[in-house]
Amino acid sequence: MKQLQDGFGRKFYYLRLSVTDVCNFRCQYCLPDGYRPNGRQQFLTQPEVARVTRAFAALGTQKVRLTGGEPTLRKDFCELLSSVAETPGIKKVALTTNGYRLAKHAKQWRDAGLTHLNVSVDSLDPRMFHQITGENLFHQVMAGIDAALDAGFESIKVNSVLLKGLNDKELVGFLDWVKQRPVEMRFIELMQTGEMDSYFQQHHQRGEVIKQQLLQQGWQQAIREKDAGPAERFWHPDYEGGIGLIMPYSKDFCAGCNRLRVSALGKLHLCLFGEAGVELRDLLGADEHQAELVARLQSALQTKRETHFLHDGDSGVTPHLASIGG
Ligand code: GTP
Ligand code: 5AD
Ligand code: SF4
Repeated sequence: MKQLQDGFGRKFYYLRLSVTDVCNFRCQYCLPDGYRPNGRQQFLTQPEVARVTRAFAALGTQKVRLTGGEPTLRKDFCELLSSVAETPGIKKVALTTNGYRLAKHAKQWRDAGLTHLNVSVDSLDPRMFHQITGENLFHQVMAGIDAALDAGFESIKVNSVLLKGLNDKELVGFLDWVKQRPVEMRFIELMQTGEMDSYFQQHHQRGEVIKQQLLQQGWQQAIREKDAGPAERFWHPDYEGGIGLIMPYSKDFCAGCNRLRVSALGKLHLCLFGEAGVELRDLLGADEHQAELVARLQSALQTKRETHFLHDGDSGVTPHLASIGG
């Protein structure tokens, strides 16, 4: 079988597919004030999503994550899920969501083929949650996570962006929370995007601080397999849940890169940072272009760089992560 492999020997079996730029939350670190999303009608349609998924699957992709914006705001979200889940070769269908619609729909999405779920929860304090996300919906999101635990997903992860001066005293609370829940807590270092320079300077907190605290408290670092993705993972014999750290400013972060991205407007992004994207949309309108689409994906991958440009402060071309899907 053909396989997506770059010039550094990294293999790519994981596609992150953004299906909308629109979000109903206003997380401080993500969407700048006054942000206007692209018009809804321009986003990839369900047949376009099916074609792009098929082309990646023909190149060995086994996992597709739907991202955004907030993917579940799409009226045809369930159809998108089923069409990705039904694509031959796709074994894992994942979603990154703010959890807003989870309590009502967890079971329905599970039945439509969703296997892996990531939910953003930046604070366990309802007031801080409101301050960071712009929405007073902490209890609704937590009820969503309970519903997801009942629905029997293959994995549930919870994302929290580390923010100095806001949620940086919450490690103990989050550890307590995963003690008896089979959930992986993910702490993500704030990344500098184009429109939030001063926010970054004020709130960036290194994940290394959390790592040291975990190691002091008896957490063990799991061995990082090649192609396992960028997170460093930790486990503890007394805890049902685990911890993952995403530290994009650390050395070797990109060595385990295993993911490619397609934006809601149909551009291939070889990295979250530092490149403008490769147009795919002209090949997504009809089945007859599939072979050309596969060939374009393969040749584009040969231009993927070894690492992102964040270390050089070059975040300019990524205005915010909702545009590429994080
Ligand atoms: P899984 O390993 O599939 O669970 O994915 P994940 O943890 O990467 O998924 P999720 O969508 O929950 O990602 C959370 C956040 O981590 C993203 O929104 C990004 O902020 C960050 N992230 C994930 N992958 C990368 C990456 O390849 N590079 C960088 N710089 N950040 C990433
Ligand atoms: N830095 C780090 N993570 C970010 N996210 C969005 N913007 C940023 C940023 N600037 C991620 C968070 C959130 C997901 C939806 O997007 O992980 O949980
Ligand atoms: Fe891959 Fe780019 Fe993320 Fe590095 S920053 S892990 S190269 S997508």
